Amino acid sequence: SAQLHSVAKSAGKLYFGTATDNPELTDTAYTAILHNASEFGQITAANSMKWDATEPSRGDFTFQNADVIAQLAKTDGQLLRGHNCVWHEQLPSWVSSGNFNAATLSSILTTHCSTLVGRYKGQTCVYSWDVVNEPFNDDGSFGTDVFLTTLNTSYIPTALNAASSADPNAKLYINDFNIESAGAKSTAMQTLIRSLKASKTPIHGVGLQFHMIVGEVPTQSVLIQNLQAFTALGIEVAITELDVRMTLPATSALLAQQQKDYTTIVGACAAVSGCVGITVWDFTDKFSWVPGAFAGQGEACPWDANLVKKPAYQGIIAGF
Ligand code: XIL
Repeated sequence: SAQLHSVAKSAGKLYFGTATDNPELTDTAYTAILHNASEFGQITAANSMKWDATEPSRGDFTFQNADVIAQLAKTDGQLLRGHNCVWHEQLPSWVSSGNFNAATLSSILTTHCSTLVGRYKGQTCVYSWDVVNEPFNDDGSFGTDVFLTTLNTSYIPTALNAASSADPNAKLYINDFNIESAGAKSTAMQTLIRSLKASKTPIHGVGLQFHMIVGEVPTQSVLIQNLQAFTALGIEVAITELDVRMTLPATSALLAQQQKDYTTIVGACAAVSGCVGITVWDFTDKFSWVPGAFAGQGEACPWDANLVKKPAYQGIIAGF
């Protein structure tokens, strides 16, 4: 029967993929599905390429776990989305402390991005990098993290230029949530992309995370219009962290609505030629980040905690 990546390819997409994390790789029932390249043509490291994991103290780069994920992609013939170079979360305190002046922080940022991206340069599996993650507040203003307070928005071109020099072949993305439909945050992202393009800064894509809630997904035409507002700027888009959570306990009605919601979202990407692929933020409720991040919510993924496919799985297939 039809499998996710195969169906995505038939629909003209580059990949259907999933996030994965190192502790999960000891679960052989899980990895049997993860390694199935007809289900997943792309993987993202859920944690092991983040700053706290890769440069826990200044200049001390640790790529052991990240290398495992990259090697897995290579062995399985899957594409890799690097995630991520700079983000205000999972940032070690030596960076977030605010101890550095602008020149020093800028050099720290450049070294981090170029060392991380350079590590995997030239490996055929590398498709893209989320160079900048979540720069905006929900109202479309910029955040107040150490990069913005010390470097203002210049940290964004600094990171993109460092990543571009380290791997000229990787597609460079800015990735965020709550930009899935028109609104202040989506507009702010478009304004940022326009200004980066105007200054000839390397930028190739916007990642829309798509952490959604059952029954609260915008209509497909709203999603399509928003995706097209990005691709009209001369960049590609990807759905980078898809899950559709519900308030527990799950009911058959909620699972049926979730199936429809997955179809709506996948169908929006399918309808926009510049939407290159879709990544679920892990494929099973067994390892989803949702219950840990949103109290009382869960069951957001297409496979349940016993690694059995849910109606959501068929919802994805139907969307292509
Ligand atoms: C999440 C991971 O899945 C969790 O394991 C971790 O505890 C927190 O981060 N947006 C992102 C991802 O860009 O990196 C986050 O991943 C989920 C929200």
